[in-house]
Amino acid sequence: MSNHEGIKYSHQELVDKSNESIAKVKDIVSKDPKRQKYHFMAPAYWINDPNGLIQFKGEYHLFYQHHPYSPKWGAMHWGHAKSTDLVHWEHLPIALAPSEEYDRDEKGGCFSGSAVDDNGILTLIYTGVILENEIQKQVQCIAASADGITFTKHAGNPVISEPPADGSWEFRDPKVWKHHGTWYMVVGSCKNEKGKALLYDSSDLYNWDYIGVLAESDGSQGLMWECPDFFPLGDKYVLIVSPIGMAGHKVIYMVGEMDYATGKFTPERYEEVDHGFDFYAPQTFLDDKGRRIMIGWMNSWDWMPWFKSFGPTTVNHWCGAMSIPRVLSLCEDGRIRFEPVEELKNLRRAYHQFNDVKIIPDSCNVLEGLQGDSLEIIAEFDLNDCDADVFGFKLRCSSDYKEKTLVTYNTKTRELLVDRSESDAESEGARGCQLEVKGGKLKIHIFVDRSSVEVFANGGRVVMSNNIYPHPSSKGVDVFSRRGTVNMTSLDVWELSKG
Ligand code: FRU
Repeated sequence: MSNHEGIKYSHQELVDKSNESIAKVKDIVSKDPKRQKYHFMAPAYWINDPNGLIQFKGEYHLFYQHHPYSPKWGAMHWGHAKSTDLVHWEHLPIALAPSEEYDRDEKGGCFSGSAVDDNGILTLIYTGVILENEIQKQVQCIAASADGITFTKHAGNPVISEPPADGSWEFRDPKVWKHHGTWYMVVGSCKNEKGKALLYDSSDLYNWDYIGVLAESDGSQGLMWECPDFFPLGDKYVLIVSPIGMAGHKVIYMVGEMDYATGKFTPERYEEVDHGFDFYAPQTFLDDKGRRIMIGWMNSWDWMPWFKSFGPTTVNHWCGAMSIPRVLSLCEDGRIRFEPVEELKNLRRAYHQFNDVKIIPDSCNVLEGLQGDSLEIIAEFDLNDCDADVFGFKLRCSSDYKEKTLVTYNTKTRELLVDRSESDAESEGARGCQLEVKGGKLKIHIFVDRSSVEVFANGGRVVMSNNIYPHPSSKGVDVFSRRGTVNMTSLDVWELSKG
């Protein structure tokens, strides 16, 4: 990449510069009271999609879309961190900087992609973005590392230099996997206002052949499919995409059958992955325990009608966090269950327990002053012992209850909702989903952090991730009901801390 004086920098020089930029501000950033306590964040500045999730030589690696010069989206780098438990992350030097003619457009850079273990070489497959004759072109590229820290871009990049006739120059976010000794790659694209997932194969990871359209929008599933991910789960295959322009949906999963002989995936159903405002571009990987683990960017873009801003933390030189890691499994009815990884239990500190609490309308301080900005809450409500219209939690409450985030279940409409219209000065709106409660027991599992609330219900059959930015002193927790009572049969609460 050249600077404005035309001096050409090597990839390593650009990586060094970006690391220096982060080093300059990271101490100030770490003092911001809105920094998450246990969610993954970059040390400073902007992040979006998780990239290159992999367990490599026994350690978990997380790469991420990163702009290491400002808290706003800009020429994309890949940040990098590793972990042995998916909870405590060690920040590593930036892995990729836009440096070459095929990946250095100022409005592009090194876009999203994935990682594989190529015989002991940690190999990243990413989209390079370049501006040529006013056209932004997206090409697929490779960078590799023997030590898992310093990456060298392949001399023969790009390995896929143009889209097939089925796609367009919106051609990005390669996800690569191996099946029966052959490498496969799915790339997100679009044509004729339909999102598409394009399939390639390769025997050596460097020479790719186009197979065809793995799957495409049925006409209602968005104009462009970002960040496709494709993997087996139980006895089915799953395609996850982040569609642009799909009304009412942000990230969808499709469950169906894969035919490798034809390269066609036949979806049998689709559902929303996460029903909150802030979950996008997730990626999954398989670990050595056989778990299919997913992490998402806990935010989303402004083509969403409910979008307002990326939050107030930009004034403190950072923006963005990852969701907690979730384990996927297939339910008997063909839907996916998303459950928080077990390792999160390592964060549990002080414990509070309540049993058989009858929640009476308009009561307050039912939990005797329970407080916290980093909590895990597991509650069970008995709908057979309930005549309330609505019940639920008030989280991150100020002492005058002016600030609060509501997690509610409406027994009439059967809707589970997170309402952040009074969470803080900036957040707005409520988003939720239908939830049928079988056997009368509603189980809600909540993870509260300093700037977010993630809700898992009925064993992870539905999930909702939301950012909130309450005042640091707003730490109250309460349960409530409206127009009737409900029996909360159990409540377990842990204060969470990494220390
Ligand atoms: C999804 C996305 C990807 C792209 C990346 C750029 O959030 O738009 O399609 O590769 O972000 O940062």
